[in-house]
Amino acid sequence: MARVVLDHVTKRFGDVTAVDDLCLEVEDREFLVLLGPSGCGKSTALRMIAGLESLTDGRIAIGDRVVNDVEPKDRDIAMVFQSYALYPHMSVARNIEFPLRSRKVPEDERTPLVQEAARALGLTDLLDRKPAQLSGGQRQRVALARAIVRRPAAFLMDEPLSNLDAKLRVQTRAELIELQRRLDATVIYVTHDQVEAMTMGHRIAIMNDGVLQQVGPPQDVYERPANLFVARFIGAPPMNTIQGSVVVEGGETLLATPGGRIAVPDAFGAAARRSSTGEIVVGVRPEHLEVDPSGPIEARVAVIESLGHERHVVCRIGDEPLVIVRQAADEPRPAEGSSVRLRAEVEGIHLFDAVTGVRLEAPA
Ligand SMILES: Nc1ncnc2c1ncn2[C@@H]1O[C@H](COP(=O)(O)OP(=O)(O)OP(=O)(O)O)[C@@H](O)[C@H]1O
Ligand SMILES: [Mg+2]
Repeated sequence: MARVVLDHVTKRFGDVTAVDDLCLEVEDREFLVLLGPSGCGKSTALRMIAGLESLTDGRIAIGDRVVNDVEPKDRDIAMVFQSYALYPHMSVARNIEFPLRSRKVPEDERTPLVQEAARALGLTDLLDRKPAQLSGGQRQRVALARAIVRRPAAFLMDEPLSNLDAKLRVQTRAELIELQRRLDATVIYVTHDQVEAMTMGHRIAIMNDGVLQQVGPPQDVYERPANLFVARFIGAPPMNTIQGSVVVEGGETLLATPGGRIAVPDAFGAAARRSSTGEIVVGVRPEHLEVDPSGPIEARVAVIESLGHERHVVCRIGDEPLVIVRQAADEPRPAEGSSVRLRAEVEGIHLFDAVTGVRLEAPA
């Protein structure tokens, strides 16, 4: 059993609170992605689980055991870093074998384990080479093989793909997902890349400034972001967010935005009333906006970005920041500089508290 539980874990470096009261339960065999911008405390959290960093406060348990005072080598975990940290003078085989040797596993047991790990990562033909004779992707695979060779209870991975070029990253990403399934292992995977998080994680835990913002399956987090930070961090291009307010006129509930008023169900009124100051932010993902001559929002096309299969129509609404409309490549293309009208799908409209950033929903 390799359930990993963080119970009110805090880490301070002097005045800096790198991790602030983090509570997180990673299930046995789960692939959990820790996601957030640079400096939000991801590596610190991972290093505390590994035992490379002490806790200022809280408890960490791996399996049934609280490990706060357990040495890293006795925690039954393996860590893979962005830098492969292979031994340059050792062959691939010796590098993979290293953790077994240092644990004094007898030689006749070591060889089949090394071969199995090498096979799992497609390294069988490279076992005699030195790291300098490998590509970056191959080196990262050696680092992964070295991590899996002794079958730890959990893997901790800190941006293991970020040194790879874009194409290799996509390929290795898929290989890692397969590997995790095959090993049936618990993985805690740190990244600042939301695409990696969306594609790899059973669940994503999003951090900002040392504070956990939301934990959930990728689709849930995408569809119901808990706050503005998560709404803007997940999704590329990100969710459009503009200041607005809810007004009721003639019995009809309307979302007032700088580009015009949008008729919405009454539940939006109930949601907006939960705002701490009455100020709200309206969020709409680019795929939930469309160019429609009868749409309620007035906008001007600033630029159009074509990506081949789709295009991003970047518009200005009044003096507000830009909003992006995602179009399929076969939809009619508006002219740059032209005035257009936009329609938002009601199901795709999110409301947030303008001051606290918290998601606003009508009481059930
Ligand atoms: N040993 C240290 N001493 C002082 N401050 C530290 C130390 N290690 C990390 N920090 C600070 O703690 C905060 C979190 O750092 P951490 O390395 O966990 O961020 P991260 O989310 O992994 O960022 P990145 O994506 O850039 O790797 C940062 O403000 C960082 O400067
Ligand atoms: Mg880091």
